[in-house]
Amino acid sequence: MGTMLDTSIIKPYLKDLEGFLKNKFEDKEYNVKVKFKDDLENQQNSLNVSIEGKKDHGFVCTFSLSELPGNCGILVSHGLFINTTFQGRGLGQFLQDLKKKIAMAYGYTIMMCTTLENNSVENYLLKKNGWEISNKFLNKRTMHYCIEWKFIIPNKL
Ligand SMILES: CC(C)(COP(=O)(O)OP(=O)(O)OC[C@H]1O[C@@H](n2cnc3c(N)ncnc32)[C@H](O)[C@@H]1OP(=O)(O)O)[C@@H](O)C(=O)NCCC(=O)NCCS
Repeated sequence: MGTMLDTSIIKPYLKDLEGFLKNKFEDKEYNVKVKFKDDLENQQNSLNVSIEGKKDHGFVCTFSLSELPGNCGILVSHGLFINTTFQGRGLGQFLQDLKKKIAMAYGYTIMMCTTLENNSVENYLLKKNGWEISNKFLNKRTMHYCIEWKFIIPNKL
């Protein structure tokens, strides 16, 4: 079982995200907010970050980082989605850096994720950011070709 996360550790990184969004996207239409949920049900460390625009404009993006059940050294990155309005403008790259900083701050050793083999943008971003392919497989439940990725968290970024 892993140790509980000290949620104050993540706050400076969420401030950085808020700063990035404000610089890049804020105008009369959008007023971005960062929400942080720490779900420790079943003693499972899991963070979900989601950013919303003004009520009429829906959400900006969301992503989750969850500790792998059974191994407190591994963090699984999942649930990443950027609203199409905000895609292709550097937010995906910013989140790459942010997730590494969060994983490092909490002392994880390895980050893992999966993608669809045909997700060329996310696959490009992962490769560009030093992630390695650890496996490729056909998901027999969905018949989707998938890629498993891993990133070894360095001591310093
Ligand atoms: C995948 C996703 C997270 C990327 O975020 P983003 O903000 O659009 O990405 P960025 O703008 O930071 O970077 C996009 C990069 O991909 C490159 N790119 C764009 N189209 C591409 C393509 N068809 N093939 C390869 N690379 C491409 C861009 O040139 C850019 O790289 P560069 O900065 O080196 O020039 C976002 O598009 C998204 O949420 N998509 C839908 C949901 C999804 O796929 N989630 C991931 C599930 S695993």
